[in-house]
Amino acid sequence: MSIVSIPASAQMAVPKAKTVSGEKLFGQQCGACHATKPGEIRVGPSLAGIIGRKAASQRGYGYSPALRKSGLTWTRDSMDKWLTDSGTTVRGTTMVYSQADAAKRRAIIDYLNTLPR
Ligand code: HEC
Repeated sequence: MSIVSIPASAQMAVPKAKTVSGEKLFGQQCGACHATKPGEIRVGPSLAGIIGRKAASQRGYGYSPALRKSGLTWTRDSMDKWLTDSGTTVRGTTMVYSQADAAKRRAIIDYLNTLPR
């Protein structure tokens, strides 16, 4: 076992100028398929109030059997896995997306967290 000590400088917050805007990322990477207005269906379902909701629970949207059977609830954790690679998180989902950059995923999830139901 080894103990790794993290220098204080590495723990400092990211400077403002480098912060990625979750809203902007959402617009670029999700907005073509997802609305933020409740009930509005595009290729995918609306993501209004998605954090805290059960997966595949929006009425009027034809989810894949895979997502319906996933048993997931959208927490920050499950959303982070989903956005890392939707196809390995839920095999058989019709959403194909992967984002390897944790900071970008976090920014997108922060933005999703602001969307009211
Ligand atoms: C090319 C279109 C497309 C893009 C781009 C896309 N999605 Fe999706 N998304 C879908 C589809 C289609 C589904 C339904 C999947 C299913 O039923 O298996 C979905 C489902 C979801 C769900 C589950 C919704 C629910 O009600 O359970 C979440 C959460 C989600 N997407 C988030 C995102 C986020 C965040 C992004 C951007 C980072 C994104 N998606 C990008 C098409 C897309």
